Amino acid sequence: MSEQSHGAESGKASTVEDNNSLTVTDNRTGKTYNIEIKDDTVRAMDFRQIKVNDDDFGLMTYDPGYTNTASCRSAITYIDGEKGILQHRGIPIEELCEKSSYLEVAYLLNFGHLPNEKELGEWVYQITHHTYVHENIKSFMQGFRHDAHPMGMLLASVGALSTFYPEAKDIDDEWQRWVSTIRLIAKMPTLAAFAYRHSLGLPYVYPDNDLSYPGNYLSMLFKMAEPKYEPDPRLEKALDTLFILHADHEQNCSAAAVRVVGSSRVDPYSAIAAGVAGLYGPLHGGANVDVLRMLQKIGKVENIPDFLEQVKQRKELLYGFGHRVYKNYDPRARIIRSHVDEVLEATGKQSPWLDIAIELEKQALDDEYFTSRKLYPNVDFYSGIIYEALGIPTDAFTVMFAIPRTSGWIAQWNEMLHDPELKIARPRQIYTGERDKEYTPMSER
Ligand code: CMC
Repeated sequence: MSEQSHGAESGKASTVEDNNSLTVTDNRTGKTYNIEIKDDTVRAMDFRQIKVNDDDFGLMTYDPGYTNTASCRSAITYIDGEKGILQHRGIPIEELCEKSSYLEVAYLLNFGHLPNEKELGEWVYQITHHTYVHENIKSFMQGFRHDAHPMGMLLASVGALSTFYPEAKDIDDEWQRWVSTIRLIAKMPTLAAFAYRHSLGLPYVYPDNDLSYPGNYLSMLFKMAEPKYEPDPRLEKALDTLFILHADHEQNCSAAAVRVVGSSRVDPYSAIAAGVAGLYGPLHGGANVDVLRMLQKIGKVENIPDFLEQVKQRKELLYGFGHRVYKNYDPRARIIRSHVDEVLEATGKQSPWLDIAIELEKQALDDEYFTSRKLYPNVDFYSGIIYEALGIPTDAFTVMFAIPRTSGWIAQWNEMLHDPELKIARPRQIYTGERDKEYTPMSER
C-alpha cells in the first residue's frame, strides 16, 4: 500500500498506480479516490473521506444483515460456500469426523493445532474435572417453571455462571481466559442435561467422570435407577460426530453475537450467553426444531408437492434448507445423513420422518425454484431425526447444537481478544425518523 494510493483523493480521474486499489469517482463532486484493496476487501472507513464538503460526515457503507461485510480477521474456520468446503484450522471436516474426537477438535479450534498425546490427555482431564456446577446453579435451575424451554434455561444458566466466577472478568489474565474456556466446554453439557431433566420432572444426574464427553452427556440425560449408566458405544460415537459437526462455523449469527457482546470486554460467560440467545432463533440453531415440526406437518410423502407449492408461494419456509454462505450442499448435512441409519439401527427405532425428509430433499433438488436459488440441505435438515431417535424431546434439539458450538464461540472470543484491530462493535445507522420536533405537553396529545 502506498501512502498516495491508500485512500488518496484527487480532483480529477487519476491513474491507478497501485493495481491493488479501487478507483471511485464521486459524481456529486467529480472527485476521484483510490481505495486500497487488501485480501479482496476494501475498508469501509476509507469511504468516510468521500465528502461533498468539509461539513459532510462522509460516505458510509450500508449492509443490513452483514451480507457482504467482513467484521474480523480469523484463522479458525474456513468455508468455501460455492464449493461446499468446511475446514477447521485448515483440516477438512470430513477428516476430522473420521479421525478425530470432539474434544480434540475443541482443542484444535482453541489452540490452533492438533494436540499431542500429552496435551490431549491434560485437556480431556481438565474438561472432565470441571463438569460439576455449584449446587446453587442446580437450585437456580429448579426454580424454572416445569415447562420452561431448555434453551431459555441454558441461556439463563450460562449467563448466571458469570456470577459464580466473578474473577473471569479479568479477561486480560491468560489463566482466567484458559480456565473459563475449560469451564464453559465442561459445564455446558451439565447445564443442558439439567434443563432436559427439568422438562421431564426428573431428578438431575451429576456428571460421571469415568465416561467420555458424549458418554457422560448421555448418562446425565438418560440415567435412571441403575448404579452406573453404560452408553452404547455406537451412540457415543454418533453423538461425538454430531458434536464435531456443530463445533464452529465462522462468523454466523451466534458467533457474531459473542464477538459483538465480547467486544465490550464483558466476561466470557455473559458473551457466550449472547451466543446461546442467537442460536435459539429458528433461522439459526432453532431450525433443527422447525425441521421436525415441518416433517410432522407434512405428515406423509404424498403431501410433499403441496407443501413445496406453499413454500414457493412464500406461505411456508423449507426449514433445514438454504444458507447464507453455502450455495452448494452443506458438507455437514452430508455427513449427518450418512449417520442416520446407523443411529436408527443402534436405537432399534424407525423414524416416521426419514422417508419424508429423503423425498422432500429429492423433490426440492429437482425443482428449479430451489436450484436456481442454490438452496440445499443444511446441517439442521437431518440432525433432528437423529436427536429424536436418541430420545431427545424436540424442544431440546437446539441445546444439542449449543453444547458443541461452545468450543467455537470461546475460540472466536479468545481470538477476538488478541486482535490488534479490536474495537467495541458499534454499527452506524441511516436515521429515518423525524428531527427537531417540539415536545407536545400531555394535555395537547
Ligand atoms: N425456504 C424457502 N426459500 C428460501 C429458503 C428456505 N429455507 N432459504 C432461502 N430462501 C429463498 C429466499 O426467500 C430468497 O428468495 P428470493 O431471492 O426470491 O427473495 C432466496 O432464497 C435467498 O435467500 P435469502 O433469504 O436471501 O438467504 P439468507 O442468506 O438471508 O438466509 C437462511 C439464510 C439460512 C436464514 C435461510 O436460507 C433460511 O431461512 N433457511 C431456513 C432456516 C434454516 O434452515 N436455518 C438453518 C441455517 S444452517 C444452521 C445454522 O447455521 O444455524
